[in-house]
Amino acid sequence: KTDTKTFEMAGKCPFGGDSIGGVEGTPPTLSDWYPNRLRVELLHHNGPRANPLGESFDYAKAFNAIDLAVLKQEINTLLTTSVAWWPSDYGNYGPQMVRMAWHSAGTYRIADGRGGAGEGLMRFAPINSWWDNGNTDKSRRLIWPIKQKYGSALSWADLIVLTGNCAMEIMGFPTYGFAGGRHDAWEADNSTYWGPEVWDAKNVTSYDSMVMRDKRWRGQNGDADYDLENPLAASHSSIIYVNPEGPYGKGDAMGSARDIRITFSRMAMNDEETVALIAGGHAFGKSHGMVKSSEIGAPPEIAPMEAMGFGWHNPVGTGNAEFTMTNGIEGSWTPNPTQWDNDYLINLFKFDWEQTRSPAGALQWTPTDKSAPKTPDAHIPGQMNALMMMTTDIALKVDPDYRRVCEKFLNDFDTFTLAFAKAWYKLTHRDMGPRERYLGSEKVNLNDLLWQDPIPVSNYALVDAADITVLKKSVLASDISVSDLVFTAFSAAVTFRGSDKRGGANGGRLALAPQKDWSVNRRTVPVIAALRTVMEEFNGQHTGGKKVSLADLIVLGGCAALEKAAADAGLTITVPFTPGRRDTTQELTDIEMFTWLKPVADGFRNYLDEGFEQISQGVAPEEFFLDKAQLLSLTSPEWVALMGGLKAMNANYDGSAHGIFTDRVGVLTNDFFTVLTSMDFEWKKTDAKGLTFSLDDRTTGAQRFTATRSDLVFGSNSHLRAVAEVYAGSDGHERFVNAFVKAWDKVMMLDRYDVKV
Ligand code: HEM
Repeated sequence: KTDTKTFEMAGKCPFGGDSIGGVEGTPPTLSDWYPNRLRVELLHHNGPRANPLGESFDYAKAFNAIDLAVLKQEINTLLTTSVAWWPSDYGNYGPQMVRMAWHSAGTYRIADGRGGAGEGLMRFAPINSWWDNGNTDKSRRLIWPIKQKYGSALSWADLIVLTGNCAMEIMGFPTYGFAGGRHDAWEADNSTYWGPEVWDAKNVTSYDSMVMRDKRWRGQNGDADYDLENPLAASHSSIIYVNPEGPYGKGDAMGSARDIRITFSRMAMNDEETVALIAGGHAFGKSHGMVKSSEIGAPPEIAPMEAMGFGWHNPVGTGNAEFTMTNGIEGSWTPNPTQWDNDYLINLFKFDWEQTRSPAGALQWTPTDKSAPKTPDAHIPGQMNALMMMTTDIALKVDPDYRRVCEKFLNDFDTFTLAFAKAWYKLTHRDMGPRERYLGSEKVNLNDLLWQDPIPVSNYALVDAADITVLKKSVLASDISVSDLVFTAFSAAVTFRGSDKRGGANGGRLALAPQKDWSVNRRTVPVIAALRTVMEEFNGQHTGGKKVSLADLIVLGGCAALEKAAADAGLTITVPFTPGRRDTTQELTDIEMFTWLKPVADGFRNYLDEGFEQISQGVAPEEFFLDKAQLLSLTSPEWVALMGGLKAMNANYDGSAHGIFTDRVGVLTNDFFTVLTSMDFEWKKTDAKGLTFSLDDRTTGAQRFTATRSDLVFGSNSHLRAVAEVYAGSDGHERFVNAFVKAWDKVMMLDRYDVKV
């Protein structure tokens, strides 16, 4: 096995070591020397400077100019036109494209919303080089002519999903539609935690070599507390979901069912959706396992230069067609692998299956009844092969709950077809966020898809500038404190996650279950009641159909409060406010799916979930805080400014004094930074775990303030301190207030795709 670095040196390297450091980023890097450092620079990954299209590029406009019907026709033609460098199975690239689209989307996990098809991340490491993604590099190169033709008007992320849809449609499957609107990433995503295992990529050449699962699992299969580390959703490292050969590759179908249930529910799929997806997907195509995995070359990320980004070189025969080796299992599930039908379930249930081995040595299953139907070879004319099932397929038959769903689908093909269509649509659109982001003539505009977190369309007139002035006055004249108003607006907006674009202030869900019941939001309950009164009064006075929504008023209250807080600090500012948020209903709010948005930790509001107050568990509160900042898509200056402003307002969820380094709470000062950077004080731990601290006057020894790790990290971490020093400087106050207001507006507007797209 070779990699890009195993070239012959022409002469002696003029540099000291065997590689150049610095820009090349070869070890040792900062994180090699200081593995526990807080990697604040993660906030700047995939930033505007990495984007070759430039910030002003309008993808929606470019995409909308495409004639989707023509594009689909071109894709369909490509799917049925075989090329010599990678001949298609059965003369149809459809199945391999369905798998490509599934693997693109299947990395999604509900816990942090990361992964998924939304940014075309399967083009980059580590995902492009996972063993499970074997030969998806071929699928992407096959569709490059289409990508090249449409250029920037069609993102890779959209093309990958659309090709999967076209593939299913030409094989007779009625999809639920397609929406474009995915924006490509331009570099590997370093912010996503894919699990604790570190492996030598060159040696991961089969599922067998991926026994590294123990680290992410708690308990042994069969234990009551058998569970998977959050936020992970894959059972193994470098796999999309589960090992097709069962846990540890041992062919244990019940154990496999257990793994499938845990991992697919982490993808937000219930039992019915899970069966629909697996049984539906495996109605198409075949598995490839003709060559021993030890023969297969390095994955794309470390393949030799001349492979030009291709991986898994197969030296046997032509290395493709009837010699193809992808994952190791060999064979097809049905006699008609390029046609949508119910043969997968029919055969799964009609026959008993026994374990056997593929030519590559992988564990798989074949019918005990030798008279069972055969399936045509994908390349050799006239050759018929035995049917195949994977351990994960057998799992659907042996697990009683999955079996019940299978039997329903077996008896009712139309129900199965619709269930698969809806589950596929959800799988591939799950991380796109609000429907306003959906582009194209095929977008499905139905209110019945609860996972889209629907917000009903409004038909009332929005408030204008004069109304906004009146409303601000009414809110400030009510009994609600400036601090409570800011806390409430921020609490509404902070649930947003840029990963899957869920959460945020739009919809007014802060006033609905489950959010209204979270302890972190307790302070907002009386505020919302008071705001509701202001809203009803205003709406009652405007009979001409003009209304303000609660969602808008929550945000407006925060803006009004900040203007007052700045005025009290001697600065006249206008905090931007864009009306148009709408209120949704409890019925349109999936409580279970919103519970995933409950913060584990929120340093802005000094919140740490019970059970996470242990640094010994491995993740420190400031690391959770960095994660939150990343999900909010903040830069480091924005993060620091936001923190300083919220602390000046005392945005602690429990009203505690931690991090409130000021005697003028509710005034928009930069006191947080001046105290944080001052050498007049000395910090001391006040608990054994190092979670809370006391700030004592160096001269008198008297305690002045208290703090948590999430507060002090802005002074102790060199990256964050560099920014905090700017805001603490003698010229820092106004700069801080401006930065804070910009960051505040950014957070309030994160979910406003109704005005942004
Ligand atoms: C192929 C595993 C779920 C669609 C395969 C292959 C494996 C596999 C090992 C063979 C790859 C190769 O060697 O070429 C699994 C496992 C699943 C799962 C373990 C979950 C338990 C799904 C889902 C879909 C899907 C949810 C789509 C909805 C496909 C298709 C192929 C395939 C279309 C055929 C690809 C081709 O013909 O080249 N799957 N899969 N699979 N899978 Fe799955």
